[in-house]
Amino acid sequence: MEKRMAVVLAAGKGTRMKSKLYKVLHPVCGLPMVEHVIRAVEKSGASQIVSIIGHGAEHVKAVLQERSHYAFQEEQLGTGHAVLQAKDLLAHLDGSTLVICGDTPLLTHETLAQLFQEHEQSGAKATILTAIATDPTGYGRVIRDATGAVTKIVEQKDATSEELAVCEINTGTYVFDNQMLFEKLANVTNQNASGEYYLTDVIELLKQDGALVGAHILPNMQESLGVNDRVALAQATKIMQQRINEAHMRNGVTMIAPETTYIEVDVEIGSDTIVESAVSLKGTTKIGAECFIGTQTEIVDSHIADGVHITQSVIEQSVVEAQATIGPFAHLRPKSHLGERVHVGNFVEIKNSTLGNDTKAGHLTYVGDADLGASINLGCGTIFVNYDGKYKYRSTVGDQAFIGCNANIMSPVNIGARAFVAAGTTVTHDIPEESLAISRVKQSNISNYWQKFSKK
Ligand code: UD1
Ligand code: CA
Repeated sequence: MEKRMAVVLAAGKGTRMKSKLYKVLHPVCGLPMVEHVIRAVEKSGASQIVSIIGHGAEHVKAVLQERSHYAFQEEQLGTGHAVLQAKDLLAHLDGSTLVICGDTPLLTHETLAQLFQEHEQSGAKATILTAIATDPTGYGRVIRDATGAVTKIVEQKDATSEELAVCEINTGTYVFDNQMLFEKLANVTNQNASGEYYLTDVIELLKQDGALVGAHILPNMQESLGVNDRVALAQATKIMQQRINEAHMRNGVTMIAPETTYIEVDVEIGSDTIVESAVSLKGTTKIGAECFIGTQTEIVDSHIADGVHITQSVIEQSVVEAQATIGPFAHLRPKSHLGERVHVGNFVEIKNSTLGNDTKAGHLTYVGDADLGASINLGCGTIFVNYDGKYKYRSTVGDQAFIGCNANIMSPVNIGARAFVAAGTTVTHDIPEESLAISRVKQSNISNYWQKFSKK
């Protein structure tokens, strides 16, 4: 196979986004747009990638790191000028070069590989990815001669009325013979309506040499959607969301209302898991098989094992082992680890804590900075008092301990295995195993209080 290279155009500011964040860094389903582009380019077989950066250069580099080489475009003088910045890095190499924009997150690696392949097999010096638009306004038009061969690309601003009527548009994605590309770019001028150096002028210059130029028509123009503003960003997100959800459904995941379910690109889900409406699954989340993820649940960067049942809860950066049941209205904050068959119920918050197998916290409980063994029962209203206003402390609870309702565990304390904490107790020091801790003011009843009260 010929060497495949790629130039990613990512120097623009993206004024229409009206944002502090540079355009190509706006996320679509959890990943910056330019990350989607780089992933597709990598998978299409390109072994050397050069990103043209300008606005937000350092931020773009921070995302792509060593996966790309970089050429800096100080002033944005046009797409031709942008590609020319890669000259020192690429011009001496033999092979074919894909040029793609950093704001087209929906182009798939299959399409790009196909474009490379068609280009390599046809012997063309350039192959343009085109599409048939119902409304071509704003795009460069692909002009063909009587035999159907591509002759040039004309920008909207420079087009005649006849050319404006053409519906085949340039998606802004191409594969070029690498050396020809840089040879012709040197001859591109800015004598046009925009005063810019157009990459698209390379096509006409190649034709003047008698070179073959090919075009690959995208069957679905949607795939080439370029994001210039937040409306297009939402459209891209919606299309990507649909793709992601369909892939999970084909993999054996049931979705009750996929149009309302938001799942980010890198999330994994096992088969026979059921995902209800309005669920958000984000980041590096992995969910096992045969789980139930109830409506309005949000899970971020967490690992959920097989057979876990979750209703209306929020889980962040946590691990949940098999068969656990969570919610409704539970909140696992970062670094929580629930063992097998753990139950965490209504209005329970867990933070930076481990709960051993079969431990249960059914209601209204806060477990922060604690290590709990197996088969512990936490009564309603148990609070781990982990913060004194300045420092945080950890506590431990041994296996099979029983914590009565409304207990305060004043960290740091160690509660032994099979210990009991009486309801209402404030635990201020360690409890040996198998003993009962009780700290309560003795109850006294004052008789005839109602009469005294009425006389007041
Ligand atoms: C370009 C094409 C047009 C095509 C359209 C598809 C040219 C002359 N025209 O037009 O035929 O239909 O894309 O969307 O190429 N960029 C830089 N440096 C620059 C200029 C642009 O990095 O100096 C980047 C932009 O950030 C953007 C991409 O190149 O990601 C495309 O540039 P843009 O100005 O949007 O080109 P269009 O006018 O849309
Ligand atoms: Ca554009």
